[in-house]
Amino acid sequence: MNIPIKNHEEIKKIRIAGNIASNVLHMIKKHVVSGITTAELDNICHKYITKKEKAIPACLGYYGFPKSICISINETVCHGIPNEYTKLKNGDIVNIDVTIIKKKYYADTSKMFIVGNCQDHALQLCQVAKQSLYITFPKIKPGLPLNIIGKTIQNYIKNTPFSIVKEYCGHGIGKNFHEQPHILHYNNFDTSIVLKPGMIFTIEPIINAGTNKVFCMHDNWTIRTKDNNLSAQYEHTILVTHNGCEILTKRKNEKIQKIYVNM
Ligand code: MF3
Ligand code: CO
Ligand code: CO
Repeated sequence: MNIPIKNHEEIKKIRIAGNIASNVLHMIKKHVVSGITTAELDNICHKYITKKEKAIPACLGYYGFPKSICISINETVCHGIPNEYTKLKNGDIVNIDVTIIKKKYYADTSKMFIVGNCQDHALQLCQVAKQSLYITFPKIKPGLPLNIIGKTIQNYIKNTPFSIVKEYCGHGIGKNFHEQPHILHYNNFDTSIVLKPGMIFTIEPIINAGTNKVFCMHDNWTIRTKDNNLSAQYEHTILVTHNGCEILTKRKNEKIQKIYVNM
């Protein structure tokens, strides 16, 4: 399998792209309030990406996707399309997924936002989804099989009441939005791919409150849970370093290390 290894110049560019994508999520936080429409959030992000950061919103026009970011509320699993009639309301849990291109290189990140006060179990779902991403970081180092990531997530989730969506995976990223390898978020027995310094990929587990069954709506984009229960997702773009990993989309106020030394 042809898995791109990025050189220093490419890593520098993807690091810059990663910073920009993380800035978008930091910037949008204060706007994620009850009453705002998802189209307004999209518009704010679009302007910030293009005008302030002089970057390109990668989702816009990607296989015909009509907006600049994905916004997925409550039982929407992913790929929600911003629109003028959906207003955020108190208690919503909202994923905003941002992918940008800067100097031809991509970075991809998403996080959950909570609108006002939400129910304990919704908050718990978001925290578990976040943790399911974070616990992979201390495990990533060259020489280990890539499937360590899915194993780690599944081992964590099996001790919670929640389930892992199987249809969507993380992906290599760089000069392309989606490239090799696929990063499964559940246990799999493929040990043929080994982590190497210079690999860059996303990890983006989707965790459901109920079953892991999902379906695609008639707009051919929006993915929802079959049982109408809540879904949550967090995503970072990760570089494998010579002794661990670097979180290329870490936000300035995010309480994790940027660089993990794991050996
Ligand atoms: N950002 C998503 C991912 O994590 C992909 C969105 S594709 C879009 O891979 F077309 F829906 F924007
Ligand atoms: Co992604
Ligand atoms: Co994404």
